[in-house]
Amino acid sequence: MKKILSPSMLSADFGNLERDTRMVDRSAAAWVHIDVMDGVFVPNISFGFPVMKAIRKATSKFLDVHLMIVDPQKYVGRFVEAGAGLVTVHVEALEDVAGCLDLIRGSGAMTGLSLRPGTPLSAIEPYLPELDVVLVMSVEPGFGGQSFIPESLDKVRELRELIGRVSPGTLIEVDGGISAANAGELWAAGADVLVAGAAVFGASDPETEIEKILNA
Ligand code: DX5
Ligand code: ZN
Repeated sequence: MKKILSPSMLSADFGNLERDTRMVDRSAAAWVHIDVMDGVFVPNISFGFPVMKAIRKATSKFLDVHLMIVDPQKYVGRFVEAGAGLVTVHVEALEDVAGCLDLIRGSGAMTGLSLRPGTPLSAIEPYLPELDVVLVMSVEPGFGGQSFIPESLDKVRELRELIGRVSPGTLIEVDGGISAANAGELWAAGADVLVAGAAVFGASDPETEIEKILNA
């Protein structure tokens, strides 16, 4: 399986958003991770459509949109219009998970479902056949730059085993506290896609850092 890196634009310099997006565009990262927070589902507010459109203008890469918002079903269509190739919603934010996944697929994007560190895999298991991506949170969603929760590694291994049995095409993405120091273990545990914010944008040479994480 090809490894995919998805740099999180949350850690970009918003005063230089075009520059930072073009850096990702030139780099070996295949996806661009877009963290949308509403101050309700998580205790932080990030950005919405105008910023996402600015990112879309500066890169043609695949936009991986992570919605940390309540009632995500209300906004799926607009995120796809704004350029999302993958829309990931949180299982904890939805009453009708299957309905929201149908909406995402119907609007032409790939379907993603995420879970907080404290949410067991059993919460997403019933939806695996409908999912292009499972996004395992390896920090509490809400902020960039947090430390990786070590138990997440076992969760990825367990999910890899589960996916192998019931939905082999579903990708495993891991998000939070990832750097070249722990990426190797995550790839080995079965991750297909790694998100990295602080590690990439905090590096003196972000493009080289992206390659280090991909080759870890
Ligand atoms: C956290 C976000 C992450 C975050 C990752 O709520 O979903 O995508 O930006 O950033 P780092 O790599 O800095 O933990
Ligand atoms: Zn994210």
